[in-house]
Amino acid sequence: MEVSGLDSDGKEFKNAEEMWREQIGEDGEQQEKKTQWYREGISYWEGVEASVDGVLGGFGNVNEVDIKGSEAFLQMLLSDRFPNARNNQHLVALDCGSGIGRITKNLLIRYFNEVDLLEPVSHFLDAARESLAPENHMAPDMHKATNFFCVPLQDFTPETGRYDVIWVQWCIGHLTDDDFVSFFKRAKVGLKPGGFFVLKENIARSDRSITRSDFYFKELFSRCGLHIYKSKDQKGLPEELFAVKMYALTAEMPRRVSKSRSKVQANRPGIIR
Ligand SMILES: C[S@@+](CC[C@H](N)C(=O)[O-])C[C@H]1O[C@@H](n2cnc3c(N)ncnc32)[C@H](O)[C@@H]1O
Repeated sequence: MEVSGLDSDGKEFKNAEEMWREQIGEDGEQQEKKTQWYREGISYWEGVEASVDGVLGGFGNVNEVDIKGSEAFLQMLLSDRFPNARNNQHLVALDCGSGIGRITKNLLIRYFNEVDLLEPVSHFLDAARESLAPENHMAPDMHKATNFFCVPLQDFTPETGRYDVIWVQWCIGHLTDDDFVSFFKRAKVGLKPGGFFVLKENIARSDRSITRSDFYFKELFSRCGLHIYKSKDQKGLPEELFAVKMYALTAEMPRRVSKSRSKVQANRPGIIR
């Protein structure tokens, strides 16, 4: 992909292929370097305290604004795509790279009857399991956290047709481009008809993970066969943090709308260009 960039030591790369060659090696050595890349990603988080401040890299104070931004985005998507959700529709979500279950606890469990969590770092997942246990957490109307999967995204394939929403926030930077594409391709089978992904991510970089630009993400979405249904910038984050964007992605192509339709309908996004 023809996008240049810098690594965390300030070294410049002409394109993404050159950066990945440096990070995960040429064909022969690739498996070993890739294993090391993933091991380092996990061991970084294994040394981090299981707290909101820990999973947010010392910026626990952004939790509230992050959840508010996500909730507004989610509400708009649910009313658009599941207008009958209140009529006994059983909604299920998957929280990917869930950490301690911050997003499930503060947001997803209020909207979904069931939430599954996926997190490769066991002390984070243990903390999530504990804080979401019925005796420690009052969820509305029997809503519950059901499954806790202790695996990394690159090794995970969801159960066919289980999820209305697959939420992927602040963890996809740990995956190489090829694993990014193969994860989303596999994960599509996990969506119910009308279901969608939400990817919420920084537009920059950190330890043993990479930060992609909006253009870079769009190239990858097109390799995954995914379409941007809606996208929104997260507002209100401290200046010193990276810009954060939310993408709602669907496997099916959004319907094209004729120009004579209402403004609301006409604003529905088209396919990725
Ligand atoms: C910045 S934290 C975000 C946690 C959570 N999504 C949140 O917003 O509170 C990044 C999370 O990604 C997880 N992670 C690291 N490598 C991963 C991988 N290969 N697959 C899935 N999750 C991964 C980390 O263990 C950590 O919990």
